Amino acid sequence: MATAPKLRNPVFCALDTPDLGQATSWAAKLADTVGGVKLGLEFFNAQGPRGVSEVMRASGLPLFLDLKFHDIPNTVAGAVRSVVPLKPFMINVHANGGRAMMEAAAKAAHEAAQTNLVNRPLVIGVTVLTSMDDSDLREVGVTESSFDQVRRLAELAKISGLDGVVCSPHEAQVLRRDLGPNFKLITPGVRPAWAAANDQKRVMTPHEAVAAGADYVVIGRPITAAPDEAAAAKRIVMELAA
Ligand code: C5P
Repeated sequence: MATAPKLRNPVFCALDTPDLGQATSWAAKLADTVGGVKLGLEFFNAQGPRGVSEVMRASGLPLFLDLKFHDIPNTVAGAVRSVVPLKPFMINVHANGGRAMMEAAAKAAHEAAQTNLVNRPLVIGVTVLTSMDDSDLREVGVTESSFDQVRRLAELAKISGLDGVVCSPHEAQVLRRDLGPNFKLITPGVRPAWAAANDQKRVMTPHEAVAAGADYVVIGRPITAAPDEAAAAKRIVMELAA
């Protein structure tokens, strides 16, 4: 099966909560505005696959299932096969797991989509967590700068058959140039000019991130912590289109 069709817009709202009622409420409120929603480990470990399906029913929106698989190739392939029937638009694995692991993930996504007669999810690599700086990397034995390590892992993700990577908006321009127009770049660390940065350190606006080459931008609290979530999302989408 082919990958899912084009989205309404590039904004994925991160529904960061362990609570099913909260996630479905956000999802329903955002159904007419954002391009998709993201559920991660906090939600999945509390609510499981059934919770994911309920949120998808509430919004009808494409889902980025952000579970960052990282294990031996056989286990990651099994994890991918287990989530494909949930019909996510996009899933991810740690690029640090290496070439064989990423190849196994890509192959499993393709095969499971065919078996289940669903669209194949995009399989995305997580490069270097933005919470890690160069000294954190040195502690785990990586002597390259974090930027060089991101470039290395993104290149490896591409060679291994992944569809794209998660990266900082500050890395997007170079990765777009290095990896070509079809490799997907997904950027968190994005803030509209009117929103608080929270704990994000080096932010760009959604408009700047897309101009730098991002295909999809992940935005959480500027939407979910706003008094009117749908209005905040609409404002972001309108600013992107301007
Ligand atoms: O609320 P906020 O917009 O900061 O949420 C961003 C989302 O993107 C969160 O779900 C966060 O875990 C995720 N993320 C991130 N930075 C990364 C990778 C993921 O902020 N490098």
